[in-house]
Formats: sequence, C-alpha cells, structure tokens
Amino acid sequence: MTTMRASATPLIVLLTAVLAFAIGRDATMAQGAQSIWDGVYTAEQATRGKAASDTSCASCHGATLEGADFGPSIAGAEFLGRWDGEKLSVLAAKVEQTMPLDSPGSLSKETYADILAHMLQASGVPAGQTALALGAPSLETIIVRKTK
Ligand code: HEC
Repeated sequence: MTTMRASATPLIVLLTAVLAFAIGRDATMAQGAQSIWDGVYTAEQATRGKAASDTSCASCHGATLEGADFGPSIAGAEFLGRWDGEKLSVLAAKVEQTMPLDSPGSLSKETYADILAHMLQASGVPAGQTALALGAPSLETIIVRKTK
C-alpha cells in the first residue's frame, strides 16, 4: 500500500499542475476577449473626433453619421450590426485605408482614432479611461458587438 501511495503522488502533482494551467489559461483568454462596450476610447477623443468628422465625413455620412445621400450609416445599431463580431482593427483599417472616399489615408493616425471614438460614441457605446490607438495590438482583441 505504501508503495502505491508513493507512486500516485507524482500523478496527482502533475494533474494539479495541468488543472492550474488550464484555469489560468481560461482566465487569460477571457481577459483577451474584450468588446467595444468595455470602455475602449476616451470622451476627449470622441469630442475631437466629432469636429474632425464634421469636416471630413459628415458631407457623405450625415451630421450624426446616420447615413445620407452619399454614404451609409457609420454609427448606430444598423452600422454596429453590419460589423458585429468583427475585430475593431479591421474596421479601423477600413476607415484609414478607404476614407474619406475622395482622399483615403489623408488624415493622421490620431485623427482616425479620434473619429473612430466619435463613431462609437454616436452609436451609444460608452467611453472609458483607455484611449483608442490605431495600430495598437489591443485593437486585434477588441470585438465589435451590436449590443453589450
Ligand atoms: C465622398 C463621400 C465620403 C466621405 C467624405 C467619407 N465617406 Fe465613408 N463611405 C462613403 C461611401 C460611398 C461608402 C460605401 C462604400 C464603401 O464601403 O466603401 C462609405 C463607407 C464607409 C464605411 C463602411 C460602412 C460599412 O458599414 O460598411 C465607413 C466605416 C466609413 N465610410 C467611414 C468614413 C469616415 C470615418 C469618414 C471621414 C474620415 C468617411 N467615411 C468619409 C463615402 C464617403
């Protein structure tokens, strides 16, 4: 009996280690899966973004980004629905690489980030403490969700 108990001990230690690893990994993955509803931009960014959007985007997408004659909605439930489940980095790249339609890539990275923040705020998504930064690895793990 003594021998059996002695040989079972390393197995228990190993199982405990595997379990601890699995739990730890789960917690890390849950942290990684962030959504736009977790406070991913600041109110200051959105305020700056509103001004930039009035200048560069509103002529086609409407003053409140609700969509107009020359462009679809880029804020609100319908817009979020179109991007539901997509990485924020993909939406950011779409905006940076193709907009404004008449002059793609013409704005600074900071201004694109500010405008993105404004688009989220105009969609009813709350601001937080962390500023949104274009090209930041975190954008890969922030998922667009239509609802919280
Ligand atoms: C000259 C008109 C025009 C201007 C200015 C313009 N857009 Fe657009 N935008 C469009 C059109 C047309 C589409 C639809 C075709 C497409 O997706 O490329 C579009 C599509 C988009 C989309 C994708 C919408 C979706 O859900 O598929 C986003 C996001 C966007 N624009 C953001 C912006 C932002 C931000 C600005 C300002 C920096 C801007 N646009 C300026 C005309 C414009």
